[in-house]
Amino acid sequence: MIALEGVTRAYVTGGPPVPVLHRTDLRSERGERVALVGASGSGKSTLLHIPGGLDRPTGGGYRYAGQDVGVMDGIRLATFRRDHIGFVFQAFHLLPVLTTIENVELPLVYAGLPAAARRRRAADLLERLGLGRHLRHRPNHLSGGRQQRVASARALVNDPAETVLADGPTGNLDSRAGAGVVSLLEAQHVSGRTVIVVTHDEALAARCPRVLRTQDGRIVAEQGGPPA
Ligand SMILES: Nc1ncnc2c1ncn2[C@@H]1O[C@H](COP(=O)(O)OP(=O)(O)OP(=O)(O)O)[C@@H](O)[C@H]1O
Ligand SMILES: [Mg+2]
Repeated sequence: MIALEGVTRAYVTGGPPVPVLHRTDLRSERGERVALVGASGSGKSTLLHIPGGLDRPTGGGYRYAGQDVGVMDGIRLATFRRDHIGFVFQAFHLLPVLTTIENVELPLVYAGLPAAARRRRAADLLERLGLGRHLRHRPNHLSGGRQQRVASARALVNDPAETVLADGPTGNLDSRAGAGVVSLLEAQHVSGRTVIVVTHDEALAARCPRVLRTQDGRIVAEQGGPPA
């Protein structure tokens, strides 16, 4: 369903382009749960942004359920993301002028859900993540761990997304808050979604049937495999 083939990504920051991903293949079947593990700087976020439709490869191709995403322009890519992808950002990207609940409601605004239903769904999810007392707070009044949970809720509130890509969703959390996010991700998987999660947490990785390891912009090891 997700098929990255020979994907490269180079960043240009003044001098010659610096390659960060080197001809990387990443395939995932519908409903799989995959962990992406590797040292800081090994290219996990750069890699995950490509299936998420947040970034375009410099070279190689990306197909999603048969669609050629690699050639989509910005507007088609935004539509693709809205329809198929829930993305938990490593840098939370919460909107500072909105409250916690408004940030989580935002994808439902774009989806055209009526206000009362939006509010209920966002509040339920935030309560499950232990944020019921922070619905009216703005992100800069929340700790990093709470902001991270809000970002997870925002990515997951829009149930129709069939693929969840989570970039370090438990990185700033203590074990109890982390468990809340993990159980949310696992619920996504149980309801048939594909889940790819970047993590430094080996215990979280071990809960995934397939683990990919990145090093210097390459996937260098794979444990487990797609279901037969
Ligand atoms: N926008 C950018 N411009 C230039 N270089 C970048 C950019 N984003 C990432 N890089 C570089 O690309 C390499 C891979 O970065 P990336 O963020 O993908 O790593 P990561 O595995 O996600 O690390 P972490 O575990 O710290 O999140 C790093 O050397 C980083 O400095
Ligand atoms: Mg990263």
